[in-house]
Amino acid sequence: MESLDFSVNEERCISCAACVLDCPLLVLTMEEATPAVIADRASMCITCLHCLTVCPTGAISIGGFTPEDCLELENMLPEPNKMETLIRGRRSVRTYEDEDVEPAIMERLLQVAWQAPTGVNARGVLFTVVDNKETMGKLRTAVMKRLAELVRTDNLPEPVSFFAGFSKLWEEKGIDTLFRGAPHIIITSAPKACPCPEQDCLIALSYFELFARDLGLGTVWDGLATMAFAELMPELLEKLGVPADHSLGYVMAFGKPAVEYHRTVPLRPANINRVSFAE
Ligand SMILES: Cc1cc2nc3c(=O)[nH]c(=O)nc-3n(C[C@H](O)[C@H](O)[C@H](O)COP(=O)(O)O)c2cc1C
Repeated sequence: MESLDFSVNEERCISCAACVLDCPLLVLTMEEATPAVIADRASMCITCLHCLTVCPTGAISIGGFTPEDCLELENMLPEPNKMETLIRGRRSVRTYEDEDVEPAIMERLLQVAWQAPTGVNARGVLFTVVDNKETMGKLRTAVMKRLAELVRTDNLPEPVSFFAGFSKLWEEKGIDTLFRGAPHIIITSAPKACPCPEQDCLIALSYFELFARDLGLGTVWDGLATMAFAELMPELLEKLGVPADHSLGYVMAFGKPAVEYHRTVPLRPANINRVSFAE
């Protein structure tokens, strides 16, 4: 047992060295027929747990995690046709039911999105979630009030002067262009000190979006809300609990969809640059 809490069940270990070969930071070695941590490389471990997950016999435990803490993958992955349909069948949802997503479903969604990869396994992404429609209603009102004030006092910066139209739509018709009437939003942020804060935030939301679709929920990448928070009312972000030392990732609105899509979009083929490289 070392500082990484790395242990090998010697009855299960078949000395295949899969854990050693798959360690991205070369922290492991075979000592005789048993994998072990190289003492002076232990501090380089990024706790990705590849050693635990690659072991064919479930012999490795590390950091307090055992194979029994994992989901088995054999015969459990979605068929390619279903996965393709999920990806092709995802749509931006802009009409929502006026009801909350059940807490257990939301919790599952958040925990699955949390599985998204992060640069150097930093795992610094924070999910700031408005998880009930009452709070969302108050936030919506506060955002629209601030926006109206910026318009009234002629303080909308020129590059985002088009927000005046959204304020007018809300004031005159109760149309919420900023959050699309969604009962919930999720805001991702990550410490600026992380190796890849913006990327980590966007990848997590991509996972969130796809699993939400599979759970029967709708989402929309909310560039307008992101701009409103980042450029017009950053003080609100702080009020929502986004730490000052975080990079803002993105806002995604979500909830139970009040619209159903029946088929995928026939897009033109992908832009592909096939490289034939010769020096
Ligand atoms: C980065 C990003 C920002 C977006 N911002 C908004 C937004 O503020 N409001 C909105 O209604 N849709 C927004 N969308 C949704 C796009 O308009 C939508 O993805 C596109 O029209 C294709 O439609 P689909 O997502 O249904 O396939 C955004 C999408 C992305 C990827």
